[in-house]
Amino acid sequence: MRSLALPSPPVGNGLQGLRATDVESDATGPVGFERCVPLDPRDTRSVVVPARTIRISSHAGELVHERFGTWRLRLASWSGLGIVVEGLDGEHTPPADYVNEILLTPAHREQFFSLIDRVGLVVCKAVGGDDALHRDVRGRSSRGRLSQGEYFHHDGCSGPVQPRVVEIRCPYQEVARHTFTAIAPFPEVIEAMLLELPAHLRIGELADARAAILADEPLASEWDEVQGALNRVIRKSLPAEDQRAYLRQVDTHVGAYREPWEMGESRFIANANAGHTMQHRRAYVEVPGNRPNGKLVKRWPAEAETADPETCERCVVET
Ligand SMILES: [Fe+2]
Repeated sequence: MRSLALPSPPVGNGLQGLRATDVESDATGPVGFERCVPLDPRDTRSVVVPARTIRISSHAGELVHERFGTWRLRLASWSGLGIVVEGLDGEHTPPADYVNEILLTPAHREQFFSLIDRVGLVVCKAVGGDDALHRDVRGRSSRGRLSQGEYFHHDGCSGPVQPRVVEIRCPYQEVARHTFTAIAPFPEVIEAMLLELPAHLRIGELADARAAILADEPLASEWDEVQGALNRVIRKSLPAEDQRAYLRQVDTHVGAYREPWEMGESRFIANANAGHTMQHRRAYVEVPGNRPNGKLVKRWPAEAETADPETCERCVVET
């Protein structure tokens, strides 16, 4: 794999002293230089940015009639990333736990996973029932330092199993979840990171990569290498709250799904497939503090991996 030389960081922020735990390369890769194009141009809306258009697939209209046996998805009106399922319609009242009892049953599981592959994100609302197979999402952030889960990443990373789909759920609980989770298409999110990069960090190879994006030309390095370089530079060069503000700008630029969590909401994220995947991150909209916060639970890769799936500690790499 080709390497991407880091730009020289500002004085006093030398990367030589960077500990292994300070860096990460979370992207599933290599993805190569191919531009991700929408699966169906008819279902594409565009976010126009200077000299560059980032394409976001919106599939809601296409999938109104998606059926799982006798059940039909009831979709919310939604023009953003992915689709939002309010519940199922059928001849009878569907079970409250419609995810486990219908969508993930052997008869429908592959169809449901294929749907997730195709649209990238399926949000299921009002999911009642069993989350016994889920595991608590770990990872805490501080005022002074971002945890790795706050940077965009795929789950599974360099582990033996990269889950095709990741489900993150906000279970019914006493305390509301006030920390968000942003979900964005890959590699468009890296393009957005380059385009939103503060001017004083647009140097060296990152400047070249940014220029290539603006000119709609292939990058000279792999997407995951560019992302690793971006993460390292912003981590070492920007204060924590400036990093969080920058990442919120990236969310907006790329059209990330960053809606507030509702209890009983599950987000099914395309994490590894041959087409278009999503990355996600823990997104703060307020300075991390001690205010009580609702928990999230996760299924896949929680069932298959021993590493912390949220912080992706297995993804830590030497530079
Ligand atoms: Fe994660």
